[in-house]
Amino acid sequence: PTTAARDEDGVLLLGGIPATALRERFGTPLYVVDEDEVRATARRTLDAFRAAAALHGTQARVYYAGKAFLTTEVVRWVTEEGLAVDVCTGGELAVALAAGADPSRLGFHGNNKSVAELERAVEVGIGSIVIDSPIEIERLAAIVERRGVKQSVLIRVNSGVHAETHDFLATAHEDQKFGFTLTDAAAAADRIRELPGLELVGLHCHIGSQIFGTAGFEESAARIVELHAELLQGGELPVLNLGGGFGIAYTSVDDPTPVEQLAVGIADAVARQCEVRGIPMPNLAFEPGRAIVGRAGVTLYEVGTTKPVALDGGLTRLYVSVDGGMSDNARPALYGAQFSARIASRAGEGDPVLSRVVGKHCESGDIVVDAEYLPGDVAPGDLLAVPATGAYCFSLASNYNFVPRPPVVALRGGEARVIVRGETVDDLLARDAGLTTTPTEGI
Ligand code: LLP
Repeated sequence: PTTAARDEDGVLLLGGIPATALRERFGTPLYVVDEDEVRATARRTLDAFRAAAALHGTQARVYYAGKAFLTTEVVRWVTEEGLAVDVCTGGELAVALAAGADPSRLGFHGNNKSVAELERAVEVGIGSIVIDSPIEIERLAAIVERRGVKQSVLIRVNSGVHAETHDFLATAHEDQKFGFTLTDAAAAADRIRELPGLELVGLHCHIGSQIFGTAGFEESAARIVELHAELLQGGELPVLNLGGGFGIAYTSVDDPTPVEQLAVGIADAVARQCEVRGIPMPNLAFEPGRAIVGRAGVTLYEVGTTKPVALDGGLTRLYVSVDGGMSDNARPALYGAQFSARIASRAGEGDPVLSRVVGKHCESGDIVVDAEYLPGDVAPGDLLAVPATGAYCFSLASNYNFVPRPPVVALRGGEARVIVRGETVDDLLARDAGLTTTPTEGI
């Protein structure tokens, strides 16, 4: 939700609801996700890719990458807006199925899917499985043969473009765990085509996450279309899945490309390459996760303590400790990710002070917002809002230090409701077998 609106008392409004009212009802820390925004973004993304594909006489399918933020409600929102869903474990598959998703509109990824996971996917009639290794070809072939069914598959190709945030490199690309190299993919395709239970429907690649601009995608498309053209000689190959990875704005420094422009840029790049090689344009597929949900999430925390620390050069940094931290948002600790923060319970006064919002975990790297200028009077009891936490925060949450994971509240039409309840101390103890078994004698 936007974090720009405030009521007459200076209280931040989220989806029209005062942040203080959300605290009263649900406590803190609190993940807040704007359902209206997720739906609108999902729809806009689908429309953009469909329109871009239509310009070249072809179709586009958009899979929501569930790893970004998965609950049964979220699955329903995106599927109702017309998206398919991409899962990468048996657990994610179970959530999508529990939500009532149509299995034929699910895709399944992963570099080490277990036999049990593959069995389950085939059993429920999953739409497509993205094969990641030669071992997996044989593993899946055995399963479908035993079941006497036919399974659509794609080959995960490492296009050689490994895009990192704000940049992309075309080297050292083979030194990572995912997929087949461009060279090895042809042999994989030959093998798959020999197997009666597997139907090769296309190629897949994913060049990274939080990528800005179209250059990395265009480069990747150029390389993968070359392979696509080569493989067309051995049979049909209707789909080209170019993965996800579209960047979002975390702080005011980030300036992501609008999805309409991205979609046109990528579809044009594929079309150019197809033209050069004299092949028809394939159906396109994409798998955005972060771009669908990232900006729709805000986390609310309560400030517990503040502490000024004198820095060199006469500067002061104010440490602002909140009641969550790396257990609900691991991204700063894992990736050095940047976020922003603002006081949500009032406007705040006083000269802005350089602040570092930190969590309550026993680790100095437990940072929520590395650097932010907060109003000088920020104090214990204030509510802080950290925007853009919709992707890879809930899904990466842990129980580090036995901190219960926060509830998730969804906003829709000016109303708030719990879509995932918060954890309790009982939940935390529930798996501890030491409480229910008799201690071994003599220890
Ligand atoms: N498709 C595949 C095959 C992927 O591996 C991923 C993300 C996506 C789609 C979705 O990417 P997105 O559109 O969300 O960027 N935990 C990290 C991000 C890990 C992304 C892993 N794969 C973070 O918090 O930045």
